[in-house]
Amino acid sequence: MNIFVTGGTGYIGSNTCVKLIEAGHNVIVADNFYNSMPEVLDQIKIITGKTVKFYETDLLDAEGLDKIFEENEIDCVIHFAGYKAVGESCQKPLKYYNNNITGTLNLLFSMRNHNVKKIVFSSSATVYGNPETVPICEDAPLSTTNPYGSTKLFIENILKDISKSDEEFSISILRYFNPIGADKSGYLGDNPVGIPNNLMPYIVKVAKGELSCLNVFGNDYDTHDGTGVRDYVHVSDLADAHIKAVEYIADKKGCFVHNIGTGVGYSVLDIVKTFEKVNNIKIPYKITPRRPGDIATCFANPEKAKKELSFTAKLSLEDMCRDSWNYAKDK
Ligand code: WQD
Repeated sequence: MNIFVTGGTGYIGSNTCVKLIEAGHNVIVADNFYNSMPEVLDQIKIITGKTVKFYETDLLDAEGLDKIFEENEIDCVIHFAGYKAVGESCQKPLKYYNNNITGTLNLLFSMRNHNVKKIVFSSSATVYGNPETVPICEDAPLSTTNPYGSTKLFIENILKDISKSDEEFSISILRYFNPIGADKSGYLGDNPVGIPNNLMPYIVKVAKGELSCLNVFGNDYDTHDGTGVRDYVHVSDLADAHIKAVEYIADKKGCFVHNIGTGVGYSVLDIVKTFEKVNNIKIPYKITPRRPGDIATCFANPEKAKKELSFTAKLSLEDMCRDSWNYAKDK
């Protein structure tokens, strides 16, 4: 199939492009390099031997977007493009609503105007807010605690309304838990432009000596060691889930929601200890106050994706920590 990937040079997008190419699909990519680098395109070619068709396009450029649909016979869209920093979204909500929502509306108008009715959307476990129970099932109550999460939930609702209004649409909503790791080749890791937001990029900065120690945001949560528990999933497994989702909606109409996680929760200190063990590197840390908006525990019930998408995460926490370091150590 001809798959149009928005945000395809980003962390999850580029890993998904590799898996799409390996599965025999033709890949067209649009990105504006807001949170990625052009050399990712070369890295995709090194890994797969294939050159993706690339457009440097911002989804806010409706004309530029239409041009992509005019020049390519697109069968399915995978939509990654969007801002994703929780903290920044609280300081700059308008920036996030405009970029993430308007960009998505432009994409959906282009799809409609060119009769493209299959889309896989990159959503997030953040739409579950502070879950009442764990593991979290897809029918858990939805709520958000920050503008970034609200953009994800708004877009989910837009897609659900489109599906109700046009039964010809095939929509897959994938709710990611915490993606970490990198392609086994040592490329395509999480290389956020500027100050990281997430745990693993911080750990890697400490491992490289760029930071003296890791700040552990609170050890007074109701968890096994007091630090926050999350469902970390290898980015290569997450990329595989997108292949399964494209295949799943290929012959189905409707809107389908799936959690993409391992179903296992690990604490911050579990991650630190595993990273130290597999990479033989000491990660100094200090306990600091909780980060506003953080929740204690969040991990998936992965059974629906297993049953319907035939997706199960295969890679271990050790693989995630080893691949994260293998990618970052000489950058
Ligand atoms: C994980 C744990 C922190 C940094 C967010 C978004 C989610 C998704 C993933 C986009 C928490 C602790 C972190 C640090 C720490 N993003 N931590 N010190 O907040 O679970 O999820 O990123 O899709 O939508 O909400 O991920 O990696 O920021 O934090 O102690 O320097 O690590 O408190 O317990 P989070 P995270």
